[in-house]
Amino acid sequence: MKINNTHYRTVWYDTAKHVVSMIDQIKLPFEFEIVELKNYKETAEAIRNMTVRGAGAIGATAGFAMAQAFVSCSNTDELKAAKAFIEATRPTAVNLFYATQKVFEAGQKGVGDAIEMAQNIADEDAEFCRLIGEHGNQLIQKDNKILTHCNAGWLAFVDYGSALSPIYAAHKAGKNPFVYVDETRPRGQGARLTAFELFHNEVEHRVIADNAAGFYMSKKQVDMVITGADRITANGDVANKIGTLEKAILAREFDIPFYVAAPFSTFDFDTSCGDDIIIEERGDEELLCHEGLDEKNNLCTIRMASPGSKGLNPAFDVTPAKYITAFITDRGIIKPSELKNYR
Ligand code: MRU
Repeated sequence: MKINNTHYRTVWYDTAKHVVSMIDQIKLPFEFEIVELKNYKETAEAIRNMTVRGAGAIGATAGFAMAQAFVSCSNTDELKAAKAFIEATRPTAVNLFYATQKVFEAGQKGVGDAIEMAQNIADEDAEFCRLIGEHGNQLIQKDNKILTHCNAGWLAFVDYGSALSPIYAAHKAGKNPFVYVDETRPRGQGARLTAFELFHNEVEHRVIADNAAGFYMSKKQVDMVITGADRITANGDVANKIGTLEKAILAREFDIPFYVAAPFSTFDFDTSCGDDIIIEERGDEELLCHEGLDEKNNLCTIRMASPGSKGLNPAFDVTPAKYITAFITDRGIIKPSELKNYR
């Protein structure tokens, strides 16, 4: 994707220096910076502290971290410890475990194979998301108004994105899509990242408060909802950013199609249903405080909740398959009831 006329991937690997580079998503949208991570521990920490986030980007980064581990580790015990270290960063997005396992297996033949596999995972992610855009574009009519939650754009993947990819394709095709961007409390991935992406790609959009979605749906001003996913279980249940569940229930109430866009690397056919997904609990400072720019344009954090109160901060929720109209995937549009044919 282009920022200021330069094409960037969200994360990439320098095969000469064995350095992982990525867009620093903690600083966005206020500052656009690239960070370089010299070893698997630094790269894993970037996943944990959300310098990089989003299922596909986490997966690609974890694959690169595993490849870095093959560069620095000298025996199998160290490699297994490195794999466990990377996998302990964030538990919900299945792409992470998919990537570490694939690179770990490939690396048994040699470091070069590990790096090649990690690169393939990143390249495939970009291609799968491009295909999601092609398939999803068929669902979008001219001037459609689309609601999305969190950020499942190119920043959440290596390129293109999942939920935003059909919107980018429709925009390119001249269909003039309009996007309601849920702010996505507590971290604000919608207001910060999705709005940043859409602004830089000149897609018409407005940021709305999370609790305004029902208002626009009830006024018949939303044609469809498209979200991403962090993990989709065998029965079609979807773990995605906290707040997705209530958007799906609202969409059902108002008879609005609810689509989940994801590449097949996000499907976890080994887990039977959403109850079995580990939901990440995060620190409550994300909820109780707000980050922004002060009058001198310095990043600052201010407390907005009553001093002394503690919070609860689950990062994801699970939307049952019954609320999902269809999945927009790299292999086409698939209804939850058809998933059994793809296991
Ligand atoms: O906590 P994050 O920012 O990594 O969570 C990302 C999401 O949950 C997004 O909603 C997205 O749909 C999944 S990543 C494509």
